[in-house]
Amino acid sequence: MKRYLITGASRGIGRAIAENLAGVDVELLLHGRDTVALAEVYEAVKPHCAHVVRLIHDLALPSGVSDLIDQVGKKPLNLLVNNAGIAIVKPFCEITSIEWEQTVGVNITAPFLLMQHFAPHMPPGSSIVNILSIAAKTGFANWSAYCMSKFALEGRSQCVREELRDRRIRMINVYPAATDTHIWTHIEGKWPRHKMISPEEVASAVAYALSRPAIVALENITISSLAGNL
Ligand SMILES: NC(=O)c1ccc[n+]([C@@H]2O[C@H](COP(=O)([O-])OP(=O)(O)OC[C@H]3O[C@@H](n4cnc5c(N)ncnc54)[C@H](OP(=O)(O)O)[C@@H]3O)[C@@H](O)[C@H]2O)c1
Repeated sequence: MKRYLITGASRGIGRAIAENLAGVDVELLLHGRDTVALAEVYEAVKPHCAHVVRLIHDLALPSGVSDLIDQVGKKPLNLLVNNAGIAIVKPFCEITSIEWEQTVGVNITAPFLLMQHFAPHMPPGSSIVNILSIAAKTGFANWSAYCMSKFALEGRSQCVREELRDRRIRMINVYPAATDTHIWTHIEGKWPRHKMISPEEVASAVAYALSRPAIVALENITISSLAGNL
């Protein structure tokens, strides 16, 4: 049986990835904070999986990350999907120290610590998927905290990818353009949801990369909308 950990699986892209990767030979470890939303995902994937576990932890807190690690336990993972993320979008002068720290905690520190803890025990043929963004490569006005976090994840992933190559662990970086999820409801402004890609499209790109032979690494996947990026 394969063991997959997906952070931020309670909604959006994480949920779509969980639904796509559910399988009879898979134990899905679904992480989120919202117990109700995570219970919905649990019910949706449970009939299709060997085993499903819910992990409720706040990744902005160091204790949340260490509790998540403890709950996952010592059995090795075959897949870690670093998906949980937040977007604080406002002029850089208005970003509070709490917002900055939360962005660093959830978007940078948590995936780093998870990777640092789990990667050494992953068997050859395992994969780590990082849900980055087109904002990992391009700056946008008012997106400084978010872009900072995704650029950081990008640099870190490029280095760790090389460290894991000899162990035959694939590092798959995904760069979605604007995707129609809950994340946009907290971002001020009118955003054309109809122009956005769907979380299912991101999930299907992840599933395709994972379905390649273990020796083949589809390392960087950019997904844009032909309706135009925002
Ligand atoms: N939507 C886009 O346009 C877009 C484009 C490119 C990349 N991305 C990236 O895709 C990833 C998923 O985003 P999404 O669009 O699917 O957003 P979403 O629908 O808002 O989902 C975000 C997920 O992250 C979890 N999360 C947020 N803060 C957390 C915290 N402090 N502790 C633990 N979990 C936390 C949420 O859990 P709860 O809801 O249970 O708290 C939720 O499961 C993010 O890394 C985002 O940066 C999104």
